[in-house]
Amino acid sequence: MSTQSKPIPKWREDFPIESEGDDFITRRDFLRFLTLVSAGLAVGNGAVLVKSLAESEGPFPRLELGAVSDMEPGTWKVFNYPEDHVPAILVRRENGVYMAFHQKCPHLACPVSYHPSEEGEGECFRCHCHNGRFDIATGQGTHGPPRELRPLRQIVLEESDGRLFATGLNELHFT
Ligand code: FES
Repeated sequence: MSTQSKPIPKWREDFPIESEGDDFITRRDFLRFLTLVSAGLAVGNGAVLVKSLAESEGPFPRLELGAVSDMEPGTWKVFNYPEDHVPAILVRRENGVYMAFHQKCPHLACPVSYHPSEEGEGECFRCHCHNGRFDIATGQGTHGPPRELRPLRQIVLEESDGRLFATGLNELHFT
């Protein structure tokens, strides 16, 4: 009995990979994929940095926030600065001093809120998404993921004739 080899169909020439090999990924393909993903991440991070640096450029608007006597010590409110879509937080600390920062957490952009001192812990900003905490005077992260990140962006405040104004943004400090 003679064995005859079957003729190879035309479609097999066009698709020479066996179905078991469909999921096979060569090292070269994998490296190509990794390179593309890394390049995408680098471009994304660069864009965020450029945007942050661009935001540090003035001129900034002079925004009236109300009378200095409007807020009691240990209270806070939100406003937008320097543009309408940028949320910010204004705090009158327990010692009477006003502070203002951007409200967006540098970790994953949840809003931070003010917390007065309690049970031996001093007043601070908190982000409830991942239990982040920030120094009330500098905006630097002190607990949770924000510890490793840039601080909250501080807004410059001025007092004039008993009125409070936001007048600019402090320099960016990368730690
Ligand atoms: S988003 Fe603020 S700690 Fe994660």
